[in-house]
Amino acid sequence: MKISVRSQSMQASPIRKLVPFANEAKKRGTKVYHLNIGQPDIETPRVFMDAVKEADFDVLAYADSNGWEPLRESIARYYQRIGLPYETGDVIITNGGSEALQWALIIACDPGEEVLVPEPFYTNYRGFAAPYLAEIKPITTYPENGFALPGREVIESLITDKTRAFMLSNPGNPAGVVYSAQEVRMLADIARDRNLYIIADEVYREFCYDGKTATSFGSMTDILDRVIMIDSVSKRFSACGARIGSLTSKNRDVMTAALKLGQARLCAPTLEMIGSKALYDLDPDYFAPIRANYEERRNILIEALQDMDGVLCEKPGGAFYAIAKLPVDNAEDFAIWLLTDFELDGGTVMLAPVENFYQTPGMGVDEVRVAYVLNKEDLQEAMRILKAALAVYPGRKV
Ligand SMILES: Cc1ncc(COP(=O)(O)O)c(C=O)c1O
Repeated sequence: MKISVRSQSMQASPIRKLVPFANEAKKRGTKVYHLNIGQPDIETPRVFMDAVKEADFDVLAYADSNGWEPLRESIARYYQRIGLPYETGDVIITNGGSEALQWALIIACDPGEEVLVPEPFYTNYRGFAAPYLAEIKPITTYPENGFALPGREVIESLITDKTRAFMLSNPGNPAGVVYSAQEVRMLADIARDRNLYIIADEVYREFCYDGKTATSFGSMTDILDRVIMIDSVSKRFSACGARIGSLTSKNRDVMTAALKLGQARLCAPTLEMIGSKALYDLDPDYFAPIRANYEERRNILIEALQDMDGVLCEKPGGAFYAIAKLPVDNAEDFAIWLLTDFELDGGTVMLAPVENFYQTPGMGVDEVRVAYVLNKEDLQEAMRILKAALAVYPGRKV
Protein backbone atom coordinates (compact mmCIF):
# COMPACT_ATOMS: atom_id res chain seq x y z
CA MET A 1 0.00 0.00 0.00
CA LYS A 2 1.14 3.52 -0.69
CA ILE A 3 2.29 5.61 2.23
CA SER A 4 1.48 9.25 1.60
CA VAL A 5 4.30 11.54 0.65
CA ARG A 6 3.42 13.80 3.57
CA SER A 7 3.84 10.94 6.09
CA GLN A 8 7.05 9.88 4.45
CA SER A 9 8.35 13.42 4.72
CA MET A 10 8.12 13.22 8.53
CA GLN A 11 11.45 12.97 10.32
CA ALA A 12 12.20 10.54 13.14
CA SER A 13 12.59 12.68 16.26
CA PRO A 14 16.30 13.26 16.94
CA ILE A 15 15.36 13.32 20.63
CA ARG A 16 13.90 9.81 20.52
CA LYS A 17 15.41 8.02 17.54
CA LEU A 18 18.42 6.74 19.47
CA VAL A 19 16.16 5.07 22.07
CA PRO A 20 16.72 1.52 20.65
CA PHE A 21 20.47 1.96 21.21
CA ALA A 22 19.80 3.16 24.77
CA ASN A 23 17.52 0.19 25.40
CA GLU A 24 20.23 -2.20 24.22
CA ALA A 25 22.75 -0.51 26.52
CA LYS A 26 20.34 -0.86 29.43
CA LYS A 27 19.84 -4.56 28.63
CA ARG A 28 23.63 -4.98 28.89
CA GLY A 29 23.36 -3.48 32.39
CA THR A 30 24.72 -0.02 31.54
CA LYS A 31 23.19 2.93 33.38
CA VAL A 32 22.14 5.54 30.81
CA TYR A 33 22.09 9.17 31.92
CA HIS A 34 19.33 10.78 29.85
CA LEU A 35 20.40 14.22 28.76
CA ASN A 36 18.57 13.81 25.46
CA ILE A 37 15.00 14.58 26.45
CA GLY A 38 13.29 17.44 28.29
CA GLN A 39 11.75 15.14 30.88
CA PRO A 40 12.36 16.90 34.20
CA ASP A 41 13.00 14.81 37.32
CA ILE A 42 11.30 17.49 39.46
CA GLU A 43 8.43 16.02 41.45
CA THR A 44 4.99 16.80 40.04
CA PRO A 45 3.20 18.84 42.73
CA ARG A 46 1.09 16.52 44.91
CA VAL A 47 -1.99 18.67 44.32
CA PHE A 48 -2.30 17.12 40.85
CA MET A 49 -2.69 13.56 42.14
CA ASP A 50 -4.78 14.70 45.12
CA ALA A 51 -7.26 16.42 42.81
CA VAL A 52 -7.42 13.37 40.54
CA LYS A 53 -7.96 11.05 43.54
CA GLU A 54 -10.74 13.21 44.87
CA ALA A 55 -12.58 13.12 41.55
CA ASP A 56 -15.49 10.74 41.62
CA PHE A 57 -17.66 10.02 38.59
CA ASP A 58 -20.31 7.44 37.87
CA VAL A 59 -19.58 8.03 34.20
CA LEU A 60 -16.29 9.42 32.98
CA ALA A 61 -17.87 11.40 30.19
CA TYR A 62 -16.50 13.54 27.36
CA ALA A 63 -15.63 17.06 28.44
CA ASP A 64 -16.47 20.19 26.44
CA SER A 65 -14.37 20.51 23.31
CA ASN A 66 -12.86 23.79 24.48
CA GLY A 67 -11.88 22.22 27.80
CA TRP A 68 -13.13 21.96 31.36
CA GLU A 69 -14.27 25.45 32.25
CA PRO A 70 -12.75 25.61 35.78
CA LEU A 71 -9.33 24.85 34.22
CA ARG A 72 -9.81 27.53 31.58
CA GLU A 73 -10.72 29.98 34.36
CA SER A 74 -7.61 29.02 36.34
CA ILE A 75 -5.39 29.50 33.30
CA ALA A 76 -6.94 32.92 32.68
CA ARG A 77 -6.25 33.85 36.33
CA TYR A 78 -2.66 32.61 35.94
CA TYR A 79 -2.22 34.89 32.91
CA GLN A 80 -3.73 37.83 34.76
CA ARG A 81 -1.36 37.26 37.73
CA ILE A 82 1.59 37.61 35.36
CA GLY A 83 0.12 40.71 33.72
CA LEU A 84 -1.32 39.21 30.51
CA PRO A 85 -4.86 40.34 29.72
CA TYR A 86 -6.35 36.96 28.79
CA GLU A 87 -9.79 35.82 29.90
CA THR A 88 -11.49 32.44 30.13
CA GLY A 89 -13.08 32.82 26.70
CA ASP A 90 -9.64 33.31 25.14
CA VAL A 91 -8.40 29.89 26.29
CA ILE A 92 -8.98 26.46 24.78
CA ILE A 93 -7.50 23.31 26.32
CA THR A 94 -5.46 21.01 24.10
CA ASN A 95 -3.74 17.64 24.32
CA GLY A 96 -0.38 19.11 25.28
CA GLY A 97 1.28 22.17 23.86
CA SER A 98 2.00 19.91 20.89
CA GLU A 99 -1.63 19.83 19.78
CA ALA A 100 -1.91 23.58 20.28
CA LEU A 101 1.10 24.11 18.01
CA GLN A 102 -0.39 21.89 15.33
CA TRP A 103 -3.67 23.76 15.46
CA ALA A 104 -1.90 27.10 15.31
CA LEU A 105 -0.17 26.00 12.11
CA ILE A 106 -3.40 24.69 10.60
CA ILE A 107 -5.17 27.94 11.46
CA ALA A 108 -2.41 30.26 10.23
CA CYS A 109 -1.30 28.45 7.07
CA ASP A 110 -2.70 26.74 4.04
CA PRO A 111 -0.59 23.99 2.47
CA GLY A 112 2.56 25.43 0.95
CA GLU A 113 2.46 28.65 2.97
CA GLU A 114 5.37 29.59 5.17
CA VAL A 115 6.21 30.17 8.83
CA LEU A 116 9.37 31.96 9.82
CA VAL A 117 11.14 30.19 12.67
CA PRO A 118 14.44 31.19 14.30
CA GLU A 119 16.81 28.21 14.01
CA PRO A 120 17.91 26.13 15.82
CA PHE A 121 14.32 25.44 16.89
CA TYR A 122 12.38 22.78 18.78
CA THR A 123 12.78 19.92 16.33
CA ASN A 124 9.18 18.74 16.59
CA TYR A 125 8.13 21.95 14.81
CA ARG A 126 9.21 20.07 11.70
CA GLY A 127 7.01 17.16 12.66
CA PHE A 128 4.06 19.52 13.19
CA ALA A 129 4.65 21.42 9.94
CA ALA A 130 5.23 18.43 7.68
CA PRO A 131 1.77 16.81 7.70
CA TYR A 132 0.04 20.16 7.21
CA LEU A 133 2.52 21.10 4.51
CA ALA A 134 3.36 24.45 6.02
CA GLU A 135 6.91 25.30 5.08
CA ILE A 136 9.37 26.23 7.77
CA LYS A 137 11.63 29.04 6.65
CA PRO A 138 14.52 29.48 9.05
CA ILE A 139 15.83 32.70 10.52
CA THR A 140 19.34 31.48 11.23
CA THR A 141 20.89 32.44 14.57
CA TYR A 142 24.42 31.70 15.75
CA PRO A 143 26.05 30.61 19.01
CA GLU A 144 28.75 33.29 18.64
CA ASN A 145 26.25 36.02 19.54
CA GLY A 146 24.15 34.01 21.96
CA PHE A 147 21.60 32.95 19.27
CA ALA A 148 20.29 36.54 19.12
CA LEU A 149 17.87 37.41 16.31
CA PRO A 150 19.30 39.21 13.29
CA GLY A 151 18.16 42.76 12.55
CA ARG A 152 14.81 43.74 11.08
CA GLU A 153 16.15 44.04 7.54
CA VAL A 154 17.45 40.47 7.50
CA ILE A 155 14.18 39.13 8.87
CA GLU A 156 12.06 41.16 6.46
CA SER A 157 14.13 39.93 3.54
CA LEU A 158 12.87 36.40 4.32
CA ILE A 159 9.20 37.37 4.06
CA THR A 160 7.45 36.38 0.84
CA ASP A 161 3.84 36.57 -0.27
CA LYS A 162 3.44 33.07 1.22
CA THR A 163 4.62 34.01 4.72
CA ARG A 164 1.84 33.77 7.30
CA ALA A 165 3.45 33.65 10.74
CA PHE A 166 6.41 33.72 13.04
CA MET A 167 6.70 30.68 15.27
CA LEU A 168 9.20 30.63 18.13
CA SER A 169 9.77 29.44 21.65
CA ASN A 170 10.84 31.95 24.26
CA PRO A 171 12.70 30.92 26.39
CA GLY A 172 13.99 28.69 23.65
CA ASN A 173 14.52 25.03 23.09
CA PRO A 174 17.23 23.87 22.16
CA ALA A 175 19.61 26.80 22.79
CA GLY A 176 18.06 28.10 26.02
CA VAL A 177 17.97 31.59 24.53
CA VAL A 178 15.83 34.28 26.18
CA TYR A 179 14.98 36.95 23.62
CA SER A 180 15.35 40.54 24.79
CA ALA A 181 12.34 42.84 25.12
CA GLN A 182 13.66 44.66 22.01
CA GLU A 183 13.76 41.47 19.97
CA VAL A 184 10.20 40.58 20.99
CA ARG A 185 9.06 44.11 20.14
CA MET A 186 10.82 43.95 16.78
CA LEU A 187 8.97 40.77 15.80
CA ALA A 188 5.71 42.30 17.02
CA ASP A 189 6.33 45.38 14.82
CA ILE A 190 7.14 43.26 11.78
CA ALA A 191 4.07 41.09 12.37
CA ARG A 192 1.89 44.21 12.56
CA ASP A 193 3.42 45.86 9.49
CA ARG A 194 3.50 42.69 7.35
CA ASN A 195 0.21 41.17 8.49
CA LEU A 196 1.59 38.03 10.15
CA TYR A 197 0.55 35.87 13.09
CA ILE A 198 2.90 35.17 15.97
CA ILE A 199 2.73 31.61 17.27
CA ALA A 200 4.23 32.30 20.69
CA ASP A 201 5.42 29.11 22.35
CA GLU A 202 6.05 30.19 25.92
CA VAL A 203 5.98 26.82 27.69
CA TYR A 204 9.27 27.62 29.50
CA ARG A 205 8.16 31.12 30.58
CA GLU A 206 9.08 30.67 34.29
CA PHE A 207 12.54 29.24 33.61
CA CYS A 208 14.77 32.28 33.17
CA TYR A 209 18.01 32.68 35.08
CA ASP A 210 20.44 35.39 36.22
CA GLY A 211 17.49 37.54 37.28
CA LYS A 212 16.17 37.76 33.70
CA THR A 213 12.54 37.49 32.67
CA ALA A 214 11.12 36.59 29.27
CA THR A 215 9.00 39.27 27.62
CA SER A 216 5.73 37.69 26.60
CA PHE A 217 4.10 38.35 23.24
CA GLY A 218 0.92 38.46 25.32
CA SER A 219 2.12 41.76 26.77
CA MET A 220 2.26 43.41 23.31
CA THR A 221 -1.24 44.83 23.60
CA ASP A 222 -1.23 46.50 20.17
CA ILE A 223 -0.87 43.16 18.33
CA LEU A 224 -2.88 40.80 20.53
CA ASP A 225 -5.19 39.85 17.66
CA ARG A 226 -2.12 38.38 15.90
CA VAL A 227 -0.79 36.39 18.85
CA ILE A 228 -1.57 32.68 19.20
CA MET A 229 -0.22 31.82 22.65
CA ILE A 230 0.89 28.26 23.36
CA ASP A 231 1.25 26.95 26.90
CA SER A 232 1.49 23.63 28.69
CA VAL A 233 1.71 22.02 32.12
CA SER A 234 4.46 19.64 30.90
CA LYS A 235 7.54 21.65 31.81
CA ARG A 236 5.97 24.37 33.94
CA PHE A 237 4.73 21.89 36.54
CA SER A 238 6.82 18.88 35.58
CA ALA A 239 3.69 17.08 34.43
CA CYS A 240 4.68 15.90 30.93
CA GLY A 241 2.48 12.81 31.13
CA ALA A 242 -0.69 14.80 31.80
CA ARG A 243 -0.74 15.92 28.14
CA ILE A 244 -2.50 19.16 28.95
CA GLY A 245 -1.74 22.33 27.04
CA SER A 246 -3.62 25.36 25.81
CA LEU A 247 -4.08 27.64 22.85
CA THR A 248 -5.00 31.20 23.79
CA SER A 249 -5.92 34.11 21.57
CA LYS A 250 -7.86 37.37 21.60
CA ASN A 251 -8.67 36.81 17.93
CA ARG A 252 -12.26 35.49 17.70
CA ASP A 253 -11.73 33.99 14.23
CA VAL A 254 -8.74 32.06 15.52
CA MET A 255 -10.78 30.79 18.47
CA THR A 256 -13.70 29.78 16.22
CA ALA A 257 -11.30 27.77 14.04
CA ALA A 258 -9.63 26.26 17.11
CA LEU A 259 -12.98 25.18 18.53
CA LYS A 260 -13.85 23.37 15.29
CA LEU A 261 -10.52 21.53 15.48
CA GLY A 262 -11.32 20.77 19.11
CA GLN A 263 -14.73 19.40 18.22
CA ALA A 264 -13.22 17.15 15.57
CA ARG A 265 -11.07 15.42 18.21
CA LEU A 266 -13.85 15.66 20.87
CA CYS A 267 -11.99 16.74 24.01
CA ALA A 268 -8.90 16.72 26.21
CA PRO A 269 -8.75 14.10 29.01
CA THR A 270 -11.04 14.88 31.93
CA LEU A 271 -8.99 13.63 34.90
CA GLU A 272 -5.85 15.34 33.66
CA MET A 273 -7.75 18.61 33.29
CA ILE A 274 -8.90 18.30 36.91
CA GLY A 275 -5.32 17.69 38.06
CA SER A 276 -4.02 20.54 35.90
CA LYS A 277 -6.45 23.03 37.41
CA ALA A 278 -4.85 22.33 40.79
CA LEU A 279 -1.46 23.05 39.23
CA TYR A 280 -2.51 26.39 37.78
CA ASP A 281 -4.02 27.31 41.18
CA LEU A 282 -0.63 26.85 42.93
CA ASP A 283 0.86 29.84 44.65
CA PRO A 284 3.25 31.60 42.23
CA ASP A 285 5.99 31.12 44.88
CA TYR A 286 6.06 27.51 43.69
CA PHE A 287 8.44 28.48 40.89
CA ALA A 288 11.25 30.17 42.88
CA PRO A 289 12.96 27.03 44.29
CA ILE A 290 12.48 25.15 41.02
CA ARG A 291 14.07 27.99 39.10
CA ALA A 292 16.97 28.12 41.58
CA ASN A 293 17.43 24.38 41.19
CA TYR A 294 17.60 24.58 37.39
CA GLU A 295 19.94 27.56 37.57
CA GLU A 296 22.33 25.62 39.79
CA ARG A 297 22.21 22.64 37.41
CA ARG A 298 22.84 24.91 34.46
CA ASN A 299 25.91 26.34 36.18
CA ILE A 300 27.26 22.84 36.93
CA LEU A 301 26.64 21.73 33.35
CA ILE A 302 28.14 24.76 31.63
CA GLU A 303 31.19 24.83 33.88
CA ALA A 304 31.80 21.13 33.15
CA LEU A 305 31.28 21.51 29.39
CA GLN A 306 33.50 24.58 29.17
CA ASP A 307 36.19 22.63 31.00
CA MET A 308 36.25 19.89 28.30
CA ASP A 309 38.99 20.15 25.74
CA GLY A 310 37.63 21.34 22.37
CA VAL A 311 34.02 21.81 23.53
CA LEU A 312 32.30 25.15 22.90
CA CYS A 313 29.22 26.04 24.90
CA GLU A 314 27.61 29.41 25.59
CA LYS A 315 25.80 29.88 28.90
CA PRO A 316 22.07 29.76 28.13
CA GLY A 317 19.68 32.16 29.89
CA GLY A 318 16.56 30.02 30.14
CA ALA A 319 14.61 26.77 29.65
CA PHE A 320 16.71 23.73 30.61
CA TYR A 321 18.82 23.04 27.55
CA ALA A 322 22.23 24.00 26.19
CA ILE A 323 23.88 23.44 22.85
CA ALA A 324 27.45 22.16 22.91
CA LYS A 325 29.72 22.10 19.87
CA LEU A 326 31.87 18.98 20.14
CA PRO A 327 35.30 18.18 18.68
CA VAL A 328 33.82 15.34 16.60
CA ASP A 329 33.08 14.82 12.89
CA ASN A 330 29.48 13.95 13.41
CA ALA A 331 27.54 14.40 16.65
CA GLU A 332 24.96 11.73 15.82
CA ASP A 333 27.65 9.10 15.22
CA PHE A 334 29.21 10.13 18.53
CA ALA A 335 25.85 9.93 20.35
CA ILE A 336 25.32 6.40 18.97
CA TRP A 337 28.87 5.35 19.86
CA LEU A 338 28.29 6.53 23.43
CA LEU A 339 25.42 4.04 23.66
CA THR A 340 26.96 1.16 21.74
CA ASP A 341 30.66 1.26 22.48
CA PHE A 342 31.41 3.26 25.59
CA GLU A 343 30.85 3.11 29.31
CA LEU A 344 32.68 4.38 32.34
CA ASP A 345 32.16 2.64 35.68
CA GLY A 346 28.96 1.08 34.32
CA GLY A 347 27.45 4.30 32.95
CA THR A 348 27.06 6.24 29.72
CA VAL A 349 25.17 9.31 28.53
CA MET A 350 22.47 9.86 25.94
CA LEU A 351 22.54 13.14 23.99
CA ALA A 352 20.34 14.65 21.28
CA PRO A 353 22.18 15.45 18.02
CA VAL A 354 21.26 18.98 16.97
CA GLU A 355 21.41 18.74 13.17
CA ASN A 356 17.64 18.29 12.87
CA PHE A 357 16.96 21.26 15.11
CA TYR A 358 18.20 23.32 12.15
CA GLN A 359 16.35 23.66 8.86
CA THR A 360 19.45 24.75 6.94
CA PRO A 361 21.28 21.66 5.65
CA GLY A 362 24.74 21.13 7.11
CA MET A 363 24.23 23.22 10.23
CA GLY A 364 24.64 21.73 13.70
CA VAL A 365 26.38 18.56 12.46
CA ASP A 366 28.91 18.65 15.30
CA GLU A 367 26.50 19.94 17.96
CA VAL A 368 24.42 18.22 20.62
CA ARG A 369 21.63 19.43 22.84
CA VAL A 370 22.09 18.68 26.51
CA ALA A 371 19.04 18.80 28.77
CA TYR A 372 19.88 19.54 32.42
CA VAL A 373 16.98 17.60 33.83
CA LEU A 374 18.97 15.36 36.19
CA ASN A 375 19.82 15.97 39.81
CA LYS A 376 23.19 17.55 40.63
CA GLU A 377 25.02 14.32 41.42
CA ASP A 378 23.80 12.52 38.29
CA LEU A 379 24.62 15.56 36.18
CA GLN A 380 28.15 15.66 37.55
CA GLU A 381 28.59 11.96 36.87
CA ALA A 382 27.19 12.36 33.34
CA MET A 383 29.71 15.14 32.69
CA ARG A 384 32.57 13.00 34.01
CA ILE A 385 31.51 10.24 31.60
CA LEU A 386 31.18 12.64 28.65
CA LYS A 387 34.62 14.10 29.27
CA ALA A 388 36.21 10.66 29.39
CA ALA A 389 34.32 9.57 26.27
CA LEU A 390 35.42 12.59 24.24
CA ALA A 391 39.04 11.94 25.21
CA VAL A 392 39.03 8.47 23.63
CA TYR A 393 36.43 8.78 20.83
CA PRO A 394 37.93 7.45 17.57
CA GLY A 395 36.13 10.11 15.48
CA ARG A 396 37.56 12.96 17.52
CA LYS A 397 38.87 15.92 15.58
CA VAL A 398 42.25 17.07 16.83
C1 LIG B 1 9.45 24.52 23.02
C2 LIG B 1 8.47 23.41 23.25
N1 LIG B 1 7.21 23.58 22.90
C3 LIG B 1 6.29 22.61 23.06
C4 LIG B 1 6.64 21.40 23.60
C5 LIG B 1 5.59 20.33 23.69
O1 LIG B 1 5.16 20.17 24.97
P1 LIG B 1 3.88 19.29 25.39
O2 LIG B 1 4.41 18.22 26.28
O3 LIG B 1 3.02 20.26 26.12
O4 LIG B 1 3.23 18.77 24.18
C6 LIG B 1 7.95 21.17 24.00
C7 LIG B 1 8.36 19.87 24.55
O5 LIG B 1 9.51 19.55 24.71
C8 LIG B 1 8.90 22.20 23.82
O6 LIG B 1 10.18 22.05 24.17
